[in-house]
Amino acid sequence: MSNKNQTLGEFIIENQSSFKYSSGELSRLINSIRLAAKVVNHEVNKAGLVDIIGNAGDTNIQGEDQQKLDVYANEKFIQTLTKRNIVCGIASEEEDSFISINSQDENHQNKYIVLIDPLDGSSNIDVNVSVGTIFSIYRRVTPVGTPVKLEDFLQKGREQVAAGYVVYGTSTMLVYTTGHGVNGFTLNPAIGSFYLSHPDMKFPADGTIYSVNEGNYLDFPLGIKNFIKYCQQEEGDRPYTSRYIGSLVSDFHRNMIKGGIYMYPKGSRNPNGKLRLLYECNPMAFLAEQANGKASDGFTRIMDIEPTELHQRVPFICGSKNMVEKAEEFMEAAK
Ligand code: AHG
Ligand code: MN
Ligand code: MN
Repeated sequence: MSNKNQTLGEFIIENQSSFKYSSGELSRLINSIRLAAKVVNHEVNKAGLVDIIGNAGDTNIQGEDQQKLDVYANEKFIQTLTKRNIVCGIASEEEDSFISINSQDENHQNKYIVLIDPLDGSSNIDVNVSVGTIFSIYRRVTPVGTPVKLEDFLQKGREQVAAGYVVYGTSTMLVYTTGHGVNGFTLNPAIGSFYLSHPDMKFPADGTIYSVNEGNYLDFPLGIKNFIKYCQQEEGDRPYTSRYIGSLVSDFHRNMIKGGIYMYPKGSRNPNGKLRLLYECNPMAFLAEQANGKASDGFTRIMDIEPTELHQRVPFICGSKNMVEKAEEFMEAAK
């Protein structure tokens, strides 16, 4: 049972018993993410006021410039999860390899690992456009009490226990799933509490929005070009319109509410696509499926892809079910 006056804290407690192996550990973990999200939100919101925007001067493992807020958000999420002794391992977009927590302590019984994109859409920070955080949670596959291994992180998306995002937008929202639908909570900044504002979120089966960086059009696979042409043609009564923010979290969030499709196909600059399987595509795919949507690489269900490396990239097509299936039809026809 959910009601709109419920805080996220109350919701977590009330729904704890629906988790398969409920020990309160997952609830504590989501609570910690809630806490870190508030801290990061505070910093994101004053980005225009203080000298925190701009380049930190480093590049991450993927050769991209790190913005200061990327570094800050990464630190805050890792600190919160580490200091509160909540998880046994963390992998982040901003860290070359995974972090093992309390690996020397044999009493350490935590069984969850987290993969995180601490700040998504970071190129939008210094222009006051919405950014986000994406997280994905798994049960470890190696024995508790031992140091985590790479195989704990390289699990298929369908093994996820929970996933979600925070969108730092006109309002700040935390949206997550534990495999029982998708619920969205809006932060009341005056009180510092998240309230259930979007219970049981669902993608409309058909949408009108397509979201893609059309600057890369010439580079797209033929199937995607044909799908875009299909959306653009006026014959019949096609209602499509294009919206692209360039923050996956924000584009996904809008499309889930209004109905639409997000695409980041491969191209010569990004031969495997740009988005990362483990901490961008899988969590969004889990949310999409829990909200009646769909996520695919054009041919294969995202959550069935076998991960081979931590920072692996895949083409990503995600959103309203009928639109994703239409895009897949065009991909198949142009194979
Ligand atoms: P990040 O800021 O974590 O590196 O992710 C940026 C991603 C995603 O949020 C967005 O949809 C996409 O990159 C935008 O890429 P383009 O600028 O190439 O369109
Ligand atoms: Mn990202
Ligand atoms: Mn990022």
